[in-house]
Amino acid sequence: MESKPGLITLFVVCILALQSVCTEVSYSIQEELKPGTVFGNIAKDLGLDITTLSSRKARVDAEGDNERFCAVSLQTGDLSVAERLDRESLCDTKPSCILIQELVLENPLELHRINLHVQDINDNSPQFKRNSIKMEIRESAEKGTRFRIEGAHDADIGKNSVQRYSLQKNDNFILMVDANKVELVLDHKLDRETQREINLPLTAVDGGSPQRSSTVMIHVTVLDANDNAPVFSQAVYKASIPENSPLNTVVVRVSATDADEGVNGEVSYDFGHVSDIDERVFSIDFKTGEIRVIGTTDFEKKNAFELPVIANDGLGLSSSAKVYIELTDENDNAPVVYLKSLSNPIPENAPTGTEVGIINVQDRDSENNRQVRCSIQQGVPFKLVPSIKNYYSLVTTGQLDRELVSDYNITITATDEGSPSLSSSKCVQLSVADINDNPPVFEEQSYSAYVSENNKPGSTLCSVSARDPDWRQNGTVVYSLLAGEVNGAPVSSYLSVNGDTGVIHAVRSFDYEQFRSFKVHVMARDNGSPPLSSNVTVSVFISDVNDNSPQILYPSPEGNSFMTELVPKAAHGGSLVSKVIAVDADSGQNAWLSYHIVKSTDPGLFTIGVHSGEIRTQRDISESDSMKQNLVVAVKDNGQPSLSATCSMYLLISDNLAEVPELKDLSFNESNSKLTSYLIIALVSVSTFFLTFIIIILGLRFCRRRKPRLLFDGAVAIPSGYLPPNYADVDGTGTLRSTYNYDAYLTTGSRTSDFKFVTSYNDNTLPADQTLKKSPSDFLEAFGESDDPPQVRIPR
Ligand SMILES: *[C@@H]1O[C@H](CO)[C@@H](O)[C@H](O)[C@H]1NC(C)=O
Ligand SMILES: *[C@@H]1O[C@H](CO)[C@@H](O)[C@H](O)[C@H]1NC(C)=O
Ligand SMILES: *[C@@H]1O[C@H](CO)[C@@H](O)[C@H](O)[C@H]1NC(C)=O
Ligand SMILES: *[C@@H]1O[C@H](CO)[C@@H](O)[C@H](O)[C@H]1NC(C)=O
Repeated sequence: MESKPGLITLFVVCILALQSVCTEVSYSIQEELKPGTVFGNIAKDLGLDITTLSSRKARVDAEGDNERFCAVSLQTGDLSVAERLDRESLCDTKPSCILIQELVLENPLELHRINLHVQDINDNSPQFKRNSIKMEIRESAEKGTRFRIEGAHDADIGKNSVQRYSLQKNDNFILMVDANKVELVLDHKLDRETQREINLPLTAVDGGSPQRSSTVMIHVTVLDANDNAPVFSQAVYKASIPENSPLNTVVVRVSATDADEGVNGEVSYDFGHVSDIDERVFSIDFKTGEIRVIGTTDFEKKNAFELPVIANDGLGLSSSAKVYIELTDENDNAPVVYLKSLSNPIPENAPTGTEVGIINVQDRDSENNRQVRCSIQQGVPFKLVPSIKNYYSLVTTGQLDRELVSDYNITITATDEGSPSLSSSKCVQLSVADINDNPPVFEEQSYSAYVSENNKPGSTLCSVSARDPDWRQNGTVVYSLLAGEVNGAPVSSYLSVNGDTGVIHAVRSFDYEQFRSFKVHVMARDNGSPPLSSNVTVSVFISDVNDNSPQILYPSPEGNSFMTELVPKAAHGGSLVSKVIAVDADSGQNAWLSYHIVKSTDPGLFTIGVHSGEIRTQRDISESDSMKQNLVVAVKDNGQPSLSATCSMYLLISDNLAEVPELKDLSFNESNSKLTSYLIIALVSVSTFFLTFIIIILGLRFCRRRKPRLLFDGAVAIPSGYLPPNYADVDGTGTLRSTYNYDAYLTTGSRTSDFKFVTSYNDNTLPADQTLKKSPSDFLEAFGESDDPPQVRIPR
């Protein structure tokens, strides 16, 4: 409805009532008219005479103490606004605002009701309670969620009150106005992370004319919801550390951010599913995301790790990433030498280049750290020959000799090429097996044994010993005698050798007078297969024992009384009368004879040469001397104890055999027959002649050779028949050591034949002290001279 100020709408309501008050008039007026504004003419409306108004004291009254809002002009009857009419304060929100006034007329008293209908005008703007509205909305709020907003208030009513609202266009909210509710409806979800605060101006507009409006600012604070999972800075982290890194080394640091705030944005780290093994090697700091080494890292066991890591925020959102950790190799493994095969023992005759063993070298590290060089110690006859891959052959580089080196400890050293390099070594023990390559060798080139004659059978002569450096039976030496003959009898009848010990025993008793030395060969043989052997000469020297008493050859020991020497009566003192000839089968001192006169008819007349046995006159023969002289001569050798023999010598001091009949008387033995005496005389004569003859021949022979030492004292001749074979004679001068004895054999049975000189054994006359301990060099010396020209001694 359009109403202009001042426009009056008149309602006349005639209500028949009491006479005095029978009329009622209504006026409709706009509020806020200026006081004095005329809005009706009461006189006209009530049909009153204007002139009577003043006389009847017309006036407007309010009921009770109520204010008077209008006034009446007594001259014109016009009703005017007396007070400010504010509908809002008078009637608040009542849709019709009626003010009741009364027109009072006196004389007669008349009361006329005046109803003032106050019409609203748009004099109030919509009003919000506060200047701004603060809201907090969680970003998790669902679409369609409604948030009620206190609407604006407009004191005006009807069209002039709030008619609509308008919200500034925005992404999230729309406005829903419904009856008396104003609501913000979430049209698109909020995201704190993109917009933390939203300001929305909300305008309320009324329907008046002119239109009034007001705007309130809605501050929406978006509250965080845990709507963001942590996000890793990288999807994959890669790191590389050397193996054996010290504990607590930081390998890599993972980091994740969470757009949420507060608890929702607090990120903690953890591993995803990792194996127990990996868990013992790495740890992750739940706060900082640092991955550290907590265990041993061994490239050779595991060189790469794949660890899932998880980032959690405070309220259970999580995301994951991968961490690849690679270990780099360190040279932490020494190479190892393995002996794959070994021919042990190896025979000593293995040819050079024989493969003895196979060696394998391994290093668990990688690349350069596993490059291995192999070497063998110096000074052993072996070398390493590289073969396929890490295999080496151990081969010999020279001839082996078990007898020199029987065991080798071969040290093989392997060194890798890491930095610093590591090495290890292995000792290979190798034995050299024996081959029977050494014959037994006697400790001496020859052996000599010295034994006195008449030894007991079974007595030990000496021992030989041979060494064989081979092993066990190859080096076990067995001794034996080599077959041979000594004097025509097998050696085994003289000697025996102990096969195990090499001790040589006499099998029988030896007789120096039979033979003085002999040689045997002893063989030493090992037990190898085939056996090796060597032999050695053993010379056995038999030494003399004084076991033979001197044997008197002349005069005949038979006690023949006809053995008589003729002594010329004219013999001067010192002339040779006769000679006692004795031999001793022994040698040396044992055969060194001495002669003594033990009994004589005339002790002063004859002497005997102690060593020559020559009987000489001591003084000139005189007439007074008895014609028959009788001597008893003892012959002793020089042995210990010495042995002796005695004989009797008959001497006849006469110039002529005519006195022979008296010979009979010479004999101590008167029982000899006359015939026997003649025979003896004849024999002596023949013998004397014969000996003289021989001496002359020999003298001629040896004089030609100018051997002055061959002295013959021709006065005495000994019948050759008295010299038995094999008897040695001793030089009368007693120089025993360097003289040589030659046995002179007389051809038995032929008295006319020559002496037969035989260069006999190369045997020495043994010295008087015959002991086995005698230094062998003495004997060698003696033997060494055995090539000297033979010298001959003829017994005198
Ligand atoms: C070899 O080594 C062993 C034990 O290690 C030792 O008994 C032996 O004497 C050694 N041999 C050599 C020849 O060094
Ligand atoms: C002895 O030598 C032979 C080869 O000559 C050899 O076969 C054998 O094994 C050796 N015996 C010992 C005990 O070494
Ligand atoms: C004894 O040894 C010599 C060399 O020492 C050798 O010539 C000889 O044949 C050997 N005799 C025997 C019977 O073995
Ligand atoms: C010689 O003398 C010995 C004793 O001296 C006597 O036994 C022997 O019968 C004698 N002979 C003669 C032939 O008278």
